[in-house]
Amino acid sequence: MKGILLAGGAGTRLHPITKGVSKQLLPLFDKPMVYYPLSTLLWTGAKEILVITTPEDQLSFKRLLGDGSWLGVKLYFETQPEPKGISQALLIGRDFLAGEPCALALGDNIFYGQGLPESLGRVSEASSQGATVFAYQVHDPERYGVMEFDENGNPRDIQEKPAKAPSTWAVTGLYVYDGTASERASRLKPSPRGELEITDLNLDYLKSGNLKVEKLGRGIAWLDTGTPTAMLQASMFIQAIEERQGLQVCCPEEVAYRLGLINDHQLLQQAKALGKSDYGKYLLSILEKN
Ligand code: G1P
Repeated sequence: MKGILLAGGAGTRLHPITKGVSKQLLPLFDKPMVYYPLSTLLWTGAKEILVITTPEDQLSFKRLLGDGSWLGVKLYFETQPEPKGISQALLIGRDFLAGEPCALALGDNIFYGQGLPESLGRVSEASSQGATVFAYQVHDPERYGVMEFDENGNPRDIQEKPAKAPSTWAVTGLYVYDGTASERASRLKPSPRGELEITDLNLDYLKSGNLKVEKLGRGIAWLDTGTPTAMLQASMFIQAIEERQGLQVCCPEEVAYRLGLINDHQLLQQAKALGKSDYGKYLLSILEKN
């Protein structure tokens, strides 16, 4: 299982904040936004991850994320010169994937909650055939891709930002695909908004009877980062959990350590490199508690 982290886009809904810096490098409380989907991808078991950014922002992402050795994984970088749709990530990543299954995560989608790592691990183990999308109940489904289910609860259709939503189940920005994803993406036509829609790729799987839908329960948080208010609320949610428990939300070094991708010594090196920040102290505390 390989991973693709799509962190492109102009972030226009956050202008002027994102005129000078990529949205996915902005902080969500105490860490860069991209750390959250990076943690999600680690939980899927991906050990080789392709990070796709705009050409202008690539250097900043490389400076932040390096080659991945700090997480015991390999990171690769490609660019998406223009925001031409999420499915384009599978074309940009075609050589990288080389026909292998993958998890695709959007760089601004934050998942957190009990049981999520286990569920991600389970899905990725079964990734050799078909696609899996993760659906989540929201009060404003019209802003997203929306699932339609038949009377037996099986997926019937997916509608991208419909005027009237067929259900309250939004399709989130995490997708697990078998080895045919790039090939299928290459046959897609741009939508009226000029993008290779991820919904069209998922519909292609649905039509061939190869789409599974994992419903994320209400104990899971899928946080929105689309507007300044949503970002502030997400930061406050993360702050509330972290301060109450003294545990980090989506700390990639901790995830890598718990998955056995890095050892005590490597975690200590990371902690030291982070100087006097609370984040660095937290990494140290993981070692002390063990
Ligand atoms: C995209 C997808 C949409 C999905 C959403 C999740 O929306 O097109 O299907 O529900 O990501 O974040 P967009 O980023 O274009 O608003």
